[in-house]
Amino acid sequence: MIPIKTVLVIFGGVSSEHDVSLVSASSVIENIPKDKYSVLSLGITKDGRWLFYTGEPDKLPDGRWLEDEALLTPAVFSPDSVSGGLILLENGTARPIKVDAVFPVLHGKNGEDGTMQGLLELSGVPFVGCPTLASALCMDKAVANAVADAHNITQAKWLGFTKYEYTKNANALLNNAVAKLGLPIFVKPANTGSSVGVSKAKTAQELVTAVELAFNFDKKVVLEEAVDGMEVECAVLGNDETLASVPGEVVPCHEFYDYDAKYITGTSQLYIPARLTEEKLKEVQNRAAEVYKALDCRGLARVDFFVRKNDGAVLLNEVNTIPGFTSISMYPKMFEASGIPYPELLDRLIQLAFLANENS
Ligand SMILES: Nc1ncnc2c1ncn2[C@@H]1O[C@H](COP(=O)(O)OP(=O)(O)O)[C@@H](O)[C@H]1O
Ligand SMILES: [Mg+2]
Repeated sequence: MIPIKTVLVIFGGVSSEHDVSLVSASSVIENIPKDKYSVLSLGITKDGRWLFYTGEPDKLPDGRWLEDEALLTPAVFSPDSVSGGLILLENGTARPIKVDAVFPVLHGKNGEDGTMQGLLELSGVPFVGCPTLASALCMDKAVANAVADAHNITQAKWLGFTKYEYTKNANALLNNAVAKLGLPIFVKPANTGSSVGVSKAKTAQELVTAVELAFNFDKKVVLEEAVDGMEVECAVLGNDETLASVPGEVVPCHEFYDYDAKYITGTSQLYIPARLTEEKLKEVQNRAAEVYKALDCRGLARVDFFVRKNDGAVLLNEVNTIPGFTSISMYPKMFEASGIPYPELLDRLIQLAFLANENS
């Protein structure tokens, strides 16, 4: 018999994607194979409290996990690599609990962006997913685009600027953007996810509104030429050796894949495999593996592309290092279509965490 390992799932977080994390984590906790792992969970509230949670995972999505105090104990994750790990703070005492691995199921800021990964690296505890560098650079769309350019990865024309620069010279920046990118232009905060603060500006006037909206979420924005094409995603798994899934396609029910189209309206369509030729599907898989390597990813990432309508060019959109993880999310679904069922996928991800730790 293989000894059971303890895996700590961390969920929630101080992020605009807190609620999405609750749904993802509930699925992850339910589907981790219990014959190999015992699962513990640590929730981070929207205002940043860390609570060890001993209740059922189905209470996560609607926030009921916070209702019963008896199931919650204040806790921290210590960076001390000798006696560190999970520490419960009970009645004025600190009680360490040994965990063999951590599975951060946190989306966006303060979880997917390298901050949590830095803490986990210091602790020396193996953890699922990308290390600090890849997490941080994939989170920042301006930095990720610049690194992709340095690797000659094809993507939409883009530029970025800060709120400070905009305050000094708004007109010149906007005129330059229209001259360089044309219209429409996609405007995004550099560091959000789930389409929060993203808009499509069709006129110079809409561009001003879009940029100002994006600055509500971040002090840096990214502007991109609008690509007219199909949205294609590819799930990648692995450390040095990688496996790219069958690519999938998203057909947003709105003009673009905004927050509502992702989570509220629910009528966006998903096709797995994407409706492309075998040759194009293969090209997307190869490109996804290249991007994964160029951005120094490990464990997992979902690499999103556009396949341009007029010439079939495969353009990188973005890399998500902790993509949506419910059983109906694209990442698990694309691997399911590639022959790896969800519980086995979770097992592989945890094993990759152990492997990365042995080799570090
Ligand atoms: N350059 C672009 N051309 C066309 N559509 C875009 C472009 N950039 C973003 N979009 C649309 O906006 C959505 C969200 O943008 P994305 O960069 O993926 O941000 P997020 O990290 O919030 O998912 C995409 O899924 C797509 O529908
Ligand atoms: Mg996206």
